[in-house]
Amino acid sequence: MIPLIKTLLPPKEILMPRLEEILYSGYIAQGEAVDQFEMEFSKYIGCKNSLSVNSGSSALHVALILAGVKPGDEVISTPITAEPTNTVIAQTGAKIIWADIDPNTGNICPDDVERKITSKTKAIMVVDYAGIPVNIKRFQEIEKKYGVSVIEDAAHALGASYEGEKLGNHFKYTTFSFQAIKHLTTVDGGMVCIKDDAEYEQAKLIRWFGISKGVSRLENDIKAQGYKYHMNNINATIGLVQLETIQSIVDQYIDNGKYFDKALQNVAGVQLMGYYDNSEPSYWLYTMKVERRDAFVQMMADNGVMASELHKRNDLHSIFSASKCELLNVDAFEKEWVHIPCGWWVSNEDREEIVSLIKKGW
Ligand SMILES: Cc1ncc(COP(=O)(O)O)c(C=O)c1O
Repeated sequence: MIPLIKTLLPPKEILMPRLEEILYSGYIAQGEAVDQFEMEFSKYIGCKNSLSVNSGSSALHVALILAGVKPGDEVISTPITAEPTNTVIAQTGAKIIWADIDPNTGNICPDDVERKITSKTKAIMVVDYAGIPVNIKRFQEIEKKYGVSVIEDAAHALGASYEGEKLGNHFKYTTFSFQAIKHLTTVDGGMVCIKDDAEYEQAKLIRWFGISKGVSRLENDIKAQGYKYHMNNINATIGLVQLETIQSIVDQYIDNGKYFDKALQNVAGVQLMGYYDNSEPSYWLYTMKVERRDAFVQMMADNGVMASELHKRNDLHSIFSASKCELLNVDAFEKEWVHIPCGWWVSNEDREEIVSLIKKGW
Protein backbone atom coordinates (compact mmCIF):
# COMPACT_ATOMS: atom_id res chain seq x y z
CA MET A 1 0.00 0.00 0.00
CA ILE A 2 1.37 3.46 -0.87
CA PRO A 3 0.81 5.33 2.39
CA LEU A 4 -0.61 8.82 2.67
CA ILE A 5 2.00 9.86 5.24
CA LYS A 6 5.45 8.53 6.09
CA THR A 7 8.27 9.30 8.54
CA LEU A 8 11.62 10.28 7.05
CA LEU A 9 14.80 9.98 9.11
CA PRO A 10 18.34 10.45 7.75
CA PRO A 11 20.38 7.29 6.97
CA LYS A 12 21.71 5.54 10.09
CA GLU A 13 25.37 6.07 9.17
CA ILE A 14 24.82 9.84 9.00
CA LEU A 15 22.46 10.35 11.96
CA MET A 16 23.77 7.89 14.56
CA PRO A 17 27.34 9.25 14.99
CA ARG A 18 25.92 12.77 15.48
CA LEU A 19 23.31 11.49 17.93
CA GLU A 20 25.81 9.41 19.86
CA GLU A 21 28.13 12.38 20.17
CA ILE A 22 25.43 14.65 21.61
CA LEU A 23 23.87 11.93 23.80
CA TYR A 24 27.17 11.37 25.63
CA SER A 25 28.42 14.94 25.47
CA GLY A 26 27.29 15.67 29.01
CA TYR A 27 24.88 18.36 27.74
CA ILE A 28 21.56 17.02 26.47
CA ALA A 29 19.29 19.86 27.68
CA GLN A 30 18.72 23.08 25.71
CA GLY A 31 22.17 24.23 24.64
CA GLU A 32 24.38 24.98 21.67
CA ALA A 33 22.74 22.46 19.32
CA VAL A 34 19.40 24.20 19.90
CA ASP A 35 20.92 27.63 19.16
CA GLN A 36 22.47 26.24 16.01
CA PHE A 37 19.23 24.59 14.88
CA GLU A 38 17.39 27.89 15.29
CA MET A 39 20.10 29.73 13.33
CA GLU A 40 20.08 27.22 10.48
CA PHE A 41 16.26 27.19 10.42
CA SER A 42 16.20 30.99 10.17
CA LYS A 43 18.66 30.75 7.27
CA TYR A 44 16.45 28.19 5.52
CA ILE A 45 13.30 30.28 5.95
CA GLY A 46 15.08 33.58 5.39
CA CYS A 47 13.64 35.08 8.59
CA LYS A 48 15.24 36.84 11.53
CA ASN A 49 13.95 35.19 14.71
CA SER A 50 13.18 31.47 15.07
CA LEU A 51 12.29 30.15 18.52
CA SER A 52 12.39 26.37 18.86
CA VAL A 53 9.99 24.55 21.18
CA ASN A 54 9.02 20.96 21.97
CA SER A 55 5.99 20.77 19.63
CA GLY A 56 3.94 22.62 17.05
CA SER A 57 1.23 22.90 19.71
CA SER A 58 3.63 24.70 22.07
CA ALA A 59 4.61 26.99 19.18
CA LEU A 60 0.95 27.91 18.70
CA HIS A 61 0.50 28.51 22.43
CA VAL A 62 3.53 30.81 22.55
CA ALA A 63 2.17 32.76 19.56
CA LEU A 64 -1.28 33.11 21.16
CA ILE A 65 0.30 34.41 24.39
CA LEU A 66 2.43 36.91 22.45
CA ALA A 67 -0.70 38.06 20.61
CA GLY A 68 -2.19 38.82 24.02
CA VAL A 69 -4.98 36.23 23.86
CA LYS A 70 -6.63 35.83 27.26
CA PRO A 71 -9.75 34.14 28.70
CA GLY A 72 -12.90 35.79 27.34
CA ASP A 73 -11.25 36.98 24.11
CA GLU A 74 -12.30 35.72 20.70
CA VAL A 75 -10.00 34.03 18.20
CA ILE A 76 -11.30 33.47 14.67
CA SER A 77 -10.21 30.11 13.28
CA THR A 78 -10.92 27.37 10.76
CA PRO A 79 -12.36 23.90 11.39
CA ILE A 80 -10.45 22.50 8.39
CA THR A 81 -7.23 21.62 10.18
CA ALA A 82 -5.71 19.13 12.62
CA GLU A 83 -7.22 19.46 16.09
CA PRO A 84 -4.22 21.03 17.90
CA THR A 85 -4.73 24.31 15.99
CA ASN A 86 -7.99 24.71 17.90
CA THR A 87 -7.45 22.77 21.15
CA VAL A 88 -4.58 25.16 21.86
CA ILE A 89 -6.88 28.17 21.36
CA ALA A 90 -9.28 26.54 23.85
CA GLN A 91 -6.35 26.10 26.24
CA THR A 92 -5.98 29.91 26.47
CA GLY A 93 -9.60 30.29 27.64
CA ALA A 94 -10.51 32.28 24.52
CA LYS A 95 -13.65 31.51 22.53
CA ILE A 96 -13.22 30.15 19.02
CA ILE A 97 -15.29 31.88 16.35
CA TRP A 98 -15.38 29.72 13.23
CA ALA A 99 -14.96 31.30 9.83
CA ASP A 100 -16.06 29.49 6.70
CA ILE A 101 -13.55 28.35 4.07
CA ASP A 102 -12.82 29.38 0.52
CA PRO A 103 -14.22 26.37 -1.39
CA ASN A 104 -11.48 26.67 -4.04
CA THR A 105 -8.58 26.17 -1.62
CA GLY A 106 -10.10 24.70 1.54
CA ASN A 107 -8.42 27.48 3.52
CA ILE A 108 -10.03 30.05 5.83
CA CYS A 109 -11.99 32.68 3.88
CA PRO A 110 -10.81 36.28 4.43
CA ASP A 111 -14.25 37.77 3.64
CA ASP A 112 -15.94 35.62 6.27
CA VAL A 113 -13.19 36.44 8.77
CA GLU A 114 -13.84 40.16 8.20
CA ARG A 115 -17.57 39.66 8.80
CA LYS A 116 -16.81 37.99 12.15
CA ILE A 117 -14.35 40.50 13.62
CA THR A 118 -15.71 42.16 16.79
CA SER A 119 -14.23 44.30 19.54
CA LYS A 120 -13.40 41.03 21.35
CA THR A 121 -11.33 39.58 18.48
CA LYS A 122 -7.74 39.23 19.71
CA ALA A 123 -6.25 37.05 16.98
CA ILE A 124 -6.97 35.34 13.68
CA MET A 125 -5.62 31.82 13.24
CA VAL A 126 -4.95 30.90 9.63
CA VAL A 127 -3.81 27.43 8.54
CA ASP A 128 -1.96 26.61 5.32
CA TYR A 129 -3.89 23.37 5.17
CA ALA A 130 -2.14 20.43 3.45
CA GLY A 131 0.65 22.83 2.43
CA ILE A 132 -1.46 25.34 0.45
CA PRO A 133 -0.62 28.92 1.52
CA VAL A 134 -3.60 30.93 2.76
CA ASN A 135 -4.64 34.15 1.02
CA ILE A 136 -1.62 36.00 2.43
CA LYS A 137 -2.28 39.27 0.61
CA ARG A 138 -5.81 39.58 2.05
CA PHE A 139 -4.83 38.54 5.57
CA GLN A 140 -2.01 41.09 5.59
CA GLU A 141 -4.57 43.75 4.64
CA ILE A 142 -6.95 42.56 7.39
CA GLU A 143 -4.15 42.59 9.99
CA LYS A 144 -3.39 46.20 9.08
CA LYS A 145 -7.00 47.39 8.79
CA TYR A 146 -8.25 45.97 12.11
CA GLY A 147 -4.99 45.83 14.12
CA VAL A 148 -5.66 42.18 14.98
CA SER A 149 -2.71 39.76 15.01
CA VAL A 150 -2.69 36.99 12.45
CA ILE A 151 -1.09 33.72 13.58
CA GLU A 152 -0.11 31.48 10.68
CA ASP A 153 -0.14 27.78 11.49
CA ALA A 154 2.23 26.48 8.80
CA ALA A 155 2.59 23.00 10.32
CA HIS A 156 1.78 21.49 6.90
CA ALA A 157 3.59 24.06 4.82
CA LEU A 158 7.33 24.01 5.47
CA GLY A 159 9.04 25.26 2.31
CA ALA A 160 5.87 26.71 0.76
CA SER A 161 6.24 30.29 -0.46
CA TYR A 162 4.49 33.51 -1.39
CA GLU A 163 6.02 35.99 -3.83
CA GLY A 164 9.22 33.95 -3.75
CA GLU A 165 9.63 34.19 0.04
CA LYS A 166 9.15 31.14 2.24
CA LEU A 167 6.27 31.09 4.74
CA GLY A 168 7.57 32.37 8.06
CA ASN A 169 8.08 35.89 6.72
CA HIS A 170 4.58 37.25 6.19
CA PHE A 171 2.89 37.59 9.59
CA LYS A 172 3.91 38.51 13.13
CA TYR A 173 3.88 34.83 14.09
CA THR A 174 4.27 31.70 11.95
CA THR A 175 4.44 28.28 13.57
CA PHE A 176 5.80 24.94 12.35
CA SER A 177 5.60 21.38 13.65
CA PHE A 178 8.41 18.81 13.51
CA GLN A 179 6.19 15.94 14.66
CA ALA A 180 6.80 12.45 13.25
CA ILE A 181 5.20 12.77 9.82
CA LYS A 182 5.88 16.35 8.80
CA HIS A 183 8.22 17.46 5.98
CA LEU A 184 10.94 17.71 8.63
CA THR A 185 10.78 15.71 11.84
CA THR A 186 12.85 16.02 15.00
CA VAL A 187 10.69 13.17 16.45
CA ASP A 188 8.72 15.93 18.15
CA GLY A 189 9.34 19.66 18.06
CA GLY A 190 8.15 22.96 16.77
CA MET A 191 9.26 26.46 15.80
CA VAL A 192 7.72 29.88 15.95
CA CYS A 193 9.04 32.61 13.68
CA ILE A 194 8.56 35.96 15.42
CA LYS A 195 8.90 39.30 13.63
CA ASP A 196 9.35 41.62 16.59
CA ASP A 197 12.70 41.44 18.44
CA ALA A 198 11.24 42.38 21.85
CA GLU A 199 8.51 39.74 21.51
CA TYR A 200 11.17 37.20 20.54
CA GLU A 201 12.95 37.92 23.84
CA GLN A 202 9.63 37.61 25.72
CA ALA A 203 9.00 34.28 23.98
CA LYS A 204 12.29 32.89 25.33
CA LEU A 205 10.93 33.44 28.85
CA ILE A 206 7.54 31.92 28.00
CA ARG A 207 9.17 28.69 26.78
CA TRP A 208 11.21 28.16 29.96
CA PHE A 209 9.11 28.69 33.12
CA GLY A 210 9.44 32.48 32.83
CA ILE A 211 13.11 32.15 33.80
CA SER A 212 15.79 34.08 31.92
CA LYS A 213 18.58 31.75 30.75
CA GLY A 214 21.15 34.54 30.63
CA VAL A 215 20.87 35.38 34.35
CA SER A 216 21.81 33.13 37.29
CA ARG A 217 18.95 31.22 38.86
CA LEU A 218 19.31 33.13 42.17
CA GLU A 219 19.07 36.49 40.46
CA ASN A 220 16.04 35.51 38.37
CA ASP A 221 12.61 36.93 39.17
CA ILE A 222 9.71 35.28 37.33
CA LYS A 223 7.29 38.05 36.38
CA ALA A 224 4.93 36.21 34.05
CA GLN A 225 3.68 32.67 33.56
CA GLY A 226 6.08 30.49 31.61
CA TYR A 227 6.02 26.84 30.54
CA LYS A 228 8.39 23.92 29.98
CA TYR A 229 8.25 24.19 26.20
CA HIS A 230 11.94 24.26 25.22
CA MET A 231 13.57 21.96 22.69
CA ASN A 232 16.53 19.85 23.89
CA ASN A 233 19.90 19.19 22.23
CA ILE A 234 18.88 15.70 21.10
CA ASN A 235 15.86 16.79 19.05
CA ALA A 236 17.81 19.80 17.79
CA THR A 237 20.64 17.56 16.56
CA ILE A 238 18.16 15.47 14.57
CA GLY A 239 16.76 18.74 13.20
CA LEU A 240 20.21 19.97 12.19
CA VAL A 241 20.91 16.77 10.26
CA GLN A 242 17.46 16.96 8.62
CA LEU A 243 18.02 20.58 7.57
CA GLU A 244 21.07 19.56 5.53
CA THR A 245 18.79 17.88 2.98
CA ILE A 246 15.43 19.56 3.58
CA GLN A 247 15.22 21.49 0.31
CA SER A 248 15.64 18.35 -1.80
CA ILE A 249 12.96 16.63 0.30
CA VAL A 250 10.49 19.53 -0.03
CA ASP A 251 11.27 19.66 -3.76
CA GLN A 252 10.10 16.04 -4.11
CA TYR A 253 6.72 16.93 -2.56
CA ILE A 254 6.46 19.96 -4.85
CA ASP A 255 7.46 18.00 -7.94
CA ASN A 256 4.82 15.32 -7.25
CA GLY A 257 2.21 17.99 -6.46
CA LYS A 258 2.85 19.85 -9.71
CA TYR A 259 2.70 16.57 -11.62
CA PHE A 260 -0.78 15.85 -10.18
CA ASP A 261 -1.86 19.46 -10.86
CA LYS A 262 -1.18 18.87 -14.55
CA ALA A 263 -2.08 15.22 -14.98
CA LEU A 264 -5.40 15.38 -13.13
CA GLN A 265 -6.83 18.38 -14.98
CA ASN A 266 -10.21 17.75 -16.58
CA VAL A 267 -10.61 14.25 -15.17
CA ALA A 268 -14.26 13.26 -14.72
CA GLY A 269 -15.39 13.35 -11.07
CA VAL A 270 -12.31 15.28 -9.90
CA GLN A 271 -12.10 18.95 -8.95
CA LEU A 272 -8.59 20.25 -8.26
CA MET A 273 -7.77 22.83 -5.61
CA GLY A 274 -6.89 26.40 -6.52
CA TYR A 275 -3.87 28.33 -5.25
CA TYR A 276 -3.70 32.07 -4.55
CA ASP A 277 -1.69 34.27 -6.93
CA ASN A 278 2.08 34.16 -6.48
CA SER A 279 1.96 31.34 -3.96
CA GLU A 280 3.57 27.92 -4.21
CA PRO A 281 2.31 25.09 -1.98
CA SER A 282 4.65 22.49 -0.48
CA TYR A 283 2.02 19.75 -0.96
CA TRP A 284 2.34 17.93 2.38
CA LEU A 285 -0.78 16.14 1.18
CA TYR A 286 -2.31 16.33 -2.27
CA THR A 287 -5.85 17.54 -1.66
CA MET A 288 -8.69 17.46 -4.16
CA LYS A 289 -12.46 17.12 -4.29
CA VAL A 290 -13.99 13.97 -5.73
CA GLU A 291 -17.53 12.80 -6.41
CA ARG A 292 -18.65 9.72 -4.42
CA ARG A 293 -15.68 10.00 -2.07
CA ASP A 294 -16.21 6.70 -0.24
CA ALA A 295 -16.21 4.77 -3.52
CA PHE A 296 -13.05 6.65 -4.57
CA VAL A 297 -11.25 5.78 -1.32
CA GLN A 298 -12.29 2.13 -1.68
CA MET A 299 -11.15 1.93 -5.32
CA MET A 300 -7.76 3.40 -4.37
CA ALA A 301 -7.39 1.00 -1.42
CA ASP A 302 -8.31 -1.96 -3.64
CA ASN A 303 -5.43 -0.89 -5.87
CA GLY A 304 -2.86 -0.40 -3.12
CA VAL A 305 -3.05 3.37 -2.64
CA MET A 306 -4.14 5.02 0.59
CA ALA A 307 -6.54 7.94 0.13
CA SER A 308 -8.36 9.64 2.98
CA GLU A 309 -9.79 12.91 4.23
CA LEU A 310 -7.42 12.36 7.21
CA HIS A 311 -8.93 15.04 9.46
CA LYS A 312 -12.37 15.54 10.97
CA ARG A 313 -13.79 19.05 10.64
CA ASN A 314 -12.95 20.40 14.07
CA ASP A 315 -16.25 22.13 14.80
CA LEU A 316 -17.91 18.71 15.27
CA HIS A 317 -15.96 18.01 18.47
CA SER A 318 -18.03 18.41 21.65
CA ILE A 319 -15.33 20.57 23.25
CA PHE A 320 -16.10 23.25 20.65
CA SER A 321 -19.90 23.02 20.84
CA ALA A 322 -20.25 26.58 22.20
CA SER A 323 -18.78 27.87 18.92
CA LYS A 324 -21.22 26.06 16.63
CA CYS A 325 -22.43 28.09 13.64
CA GLU A 326 -23.48 27.69 10.03
CA LEU A 327 -20.54 26.98 7.68
CA LEU A 328 -22.00 26.23 4.27
CA ASN A 329 -18.71 25.88 2.38
CA VAL A 330 -17.30 23.53 5.03
CA ASP A 331 -20.52 21.45 4.77
CA ALA A 332 -20.02 21.04 1.02
CA PHE A 333 -16.23 20.52 1.27
CA GLU A 334 -16.47 17.76 3.87
CA LYS A 335 -18.51 15.58 1.53
CA GLU A 336 -15.92 15.64 -1.25
CA TRP A 337 -12.43 16.38 0.09
CA VAL A 338 -9.80 13.69 -0.05
CA HIS A 339 -6.01 13.47 0.00
CA ILE A 340 -3.76 11.23 -2.06
CA PRO A 341 -0.06 10.44 -1.35
CA CYS A 342 2.32 13.08 -2.64
CA GLY A 343 5.52 12.94 -0.54
CA TRP A 344 9.13 11.87 -1.11
CA TRP A 345 8.16 8.17 -1.05
CA VAL A 346 5.91 8.50 -4.13
CA SER A 347 8.10 7.51 -7.11
CA ASN A 348 7.52 8.54 -10.72
CA GLU A 349 6.04 5.10 -11.40
CA ASP A 350 3.78 5.42 -8.35
CA ARG A 351 2.41 8.78 -9.41
CA GLU A 352 1.80 7.60 -12.95
CA GLU A 353 -0.05 4.59 -11.56
CA ILE A 354 -2.12 6.83 -9.24
CA VAL A 355 -3.15 9.06 -12.16
CA SER A 356 -4.04 6.14 -14.38
CA LEU A 357 -6.20 4.61 -11.61
CA ILE A 358 -8.08 7.87 -11.13
CA LYS A 359 -8.58 8.30 -14.88
CA LYS A 360 -10.13 4.83 -15.11
CA GLY A 361 -12.89 6.02 -12.77
CA TRP A 362 -14.54 4.50 -9.68
C1 LIG B 1 -2.17 21.97 11.27
C2 LIG B 1 -1.47 21.53 12.50
N1 LIG B 1 -1.28 22.43 13.48
C3 LIG B 1 -0.64 22.10 14.62
C4 LIG B 1 -0.16 20.82 14.83
C5 LIG B 1 0.48 20.51 16.13
O1 LIG B 1 1.78 20.07 16.01
P1 LIG B 1 2.42 19.07 17.08
O2 LIG B 1 1.85 17.71 16.83
O3 LIG B 1 3.88 19.15 16.75
O4 LIG B 1 2.10 19.59 18.42
C6 LIG B 1 -0.32 19.86 13.83
C7 LIG B 1 0.23 18.51 13.94
O5 LIG B 1 -0.19 17.57 14.45
C8 LIG B 1 -1.01 20.21 12.64
O6 LIG B 1 -1.22 19.30 11.67
